[in-house]
Amino acid sequence: MCGIVGYVGKQKAVTILLEGLKRLEYRGYDSAGVAVLQNNHIDVAKKVGRVENLVKEVARHQLTGTTGIAHTRWATHGGVTDANAHPHVSSDGKFALIHNGVIENFASMKRFLLSKGYTFSSETDTEALVNLIAYHYQKEPQAGDKSRFLESVRRALMHVEGTYGIAVVCSDAPGEIVAARKASPLILGVGEEEYIIASDVSALISRTQNVVYLKDGELVHVTPKRFTIITQAEEDVSPIVNRVTWTVDATELGSYSHFMEKEIFEQPAALENTMRGRFSADGSTAQFGGLNLSPVEFRQLDRFAFCGCGTAWHACLVAEHLIERFARVPVEVDYSSEFRYRNTPLSGNTLFFMVSQSGETIDTLGALREAKRKGYKVMAINNSVGSSIAREADGGIYQHVGPEIGVASTKAFTSQLMVGAMIALYIARMRDMSFADGVQYVKALKGVPDLVRKVLEQAPHIRNVAKRFARYNDMLFLGRLSLFPIALEGALKLKEISYIHAEGYPAAEMKHGPIALISEKCPTVFFAPQCEIFNKLVSSIQEIKARRGPTIVVTTEGCEIPAGLADEVITIPDCHEAVLPIVATVPVQLLSYYIAVERGCDVDKPRNLAKSVTVE
Ligand code: G6P
Repeated sequence: MCGIVGYVGKQKAVTILLEGLKRLEYRGYDSAGVAVLQNNHIDVAKKVGRVENLVKEVARHQLTGTTGIAHTRWATHGGVTDANAHPHVSSDGKFALIHNGVIENFASMKRFLLSKGYTFSSETDTEALVNLIAYHYQKEPQAGDKSRFLESVRRALMHVEGTYGIAVVCSDAPGEIVAARKASPLILGVGEEEYIIASDVSALISRTQNVVYLKDGELVHVTPKRFTIITQAEEDVSPIVNRVTWTVDATELGSYSHFMEKEIFEQPAALENTMRGRFSADGSTAQFGGLNLSPVEFRQLDRFAFCGCGTAWHACLVAEHLIERFARVPVEVDYSSEFRYRNTPLSGNTLFFMVSQSGETIDTLGALREAKRKGYKVMAINNSVGSSIAREADGGIYQHVGPEIGVASTKAFTSQLMVGAMIALYIARMRDMSFADGVQYVKALKGVPDLVRKVLEQAPHIRNVAKRFARYNDMLFLGRLSLFPIALEGALKLKEISYIHAEGYPAAEMKHGPIALISEKCPTVFFAPQCEIFNKLVSSIQEIKARRGPTIVVTTEGCEIPAGLADEVITIPDCHEAVLPIVATVPVQLLSYYIAVERGCDVDKPRNLAKSVTVE
């Protein structure tokens, strides 16, 4: 949610900044802008729309300086206009600032600054902060042996309520950037005679794999030769430089048309990476290196709680089903945003899992902090190494699926399902699951990549189904038990990227409301795998057909759907119950992807959405 990038070095800053912005565009794409320091002056170019528009705008400016900052916006305060695009410049022209987050007390700040003669040209909260920095710079000209630039940013931030990842340049300080964070992500790339500030690794991976993850309340001061990190309370911080294992290839599209397509097809390999090294030597259970809990401590837990947002919340629902089904231990699932404020009563022996691909979703971070405040141990299930959620959790399980760039989550979701299935196994094997059943379960998990490959082979068929169904404006997704969350996920994917109104329901709930929607104009995607309640599923499809609703039935190999009930059938391999949700997800990912393509939608950057939601 808003991408920020800053550069100090020997190269022309604007080239590196624009490349970084293109890689960060998934974080927001309302407008974009860049500010470059040259000849003790700050030059700014900004434009509504995608980074492409900014590239054209930049061509009209002479931006040759080697220090600069750039931003891609997801609007919070103020409409999508050139004036509201970042960077924002203080009214005295001395500072330019880019910001990801929300300054909650900007109105009182702005009143104060107006009374001091500062002027404003945008409706944003950010402009108040850049002017407040300018105010402190003027007010305290003597900073002793400290940097006056750094000191004025630090002092201004002491007055901020809200969240921020910021980077600032000052016309009096060529070759310098001050950046700081509170709740919004920020990293520093340490390159060869250059430094890059960014919201995430993808923006700097083409220049360096050495990064410092800034913590909340820290400020970094970058000069051409060195960087220093201090806390808000002016303590020096010894930085830890981490080596990122991703390479730039992982962030390239290759031969695919969209990142979403690439990431769907990467799933067999991604799932192998999630499982690697995580089964016991006897092949009967899972093992996790990062839980920081002994088996004895784990065994004492009598309840698990899962929190997540969007797609990650659906993964939580599947984990709940599998843990309760196989381990017979109760599980609570909450939207992260609700858990923060709901004051849920829980037993003392509860372990929390915070599920988040990015590890930066502010609601999930808030839920994590609330659970920890209440004294619970919290584990992270997340994909981005070094993320805020990973760092603040007591332990966790990394997904290891590489960068996910498409805004609609695909490979990260199936990997979260895999982690959930492994946790269910781990808990079950500590309780009543036999060695033999454990071995069967592990075999099933190890077989998932091949099963997913089989489903992917059906892409041409699913594309044809998509062509037939792309014209509808409403769609239902129905499934039961572990496939109810997959029905929710199918509906979410479709509405996110194709703007078709879609709803997911437990299939038997259809008759309590959604059935009113069914007509020849509202198709249903129905999950009907071979299972104990197969006949009940067939009855529900019959009820749809009796009302002339078109149907796409997702079923397992060898399963007979009675004649006339399915307008289209998509077959998935018959599989173990624990892996069925993973295998059943793939057809609906492909279906929504191809429908969106058919409708000419911008699949990787759906309107109004952002991949990493770092505001409440
Ligand atoms: C946004 C994205 C979704 C994602 C959700 C949670 O809404 O558009 O695709 O599922 O955030 O993100 P997280 O990084 O916490 O998994």
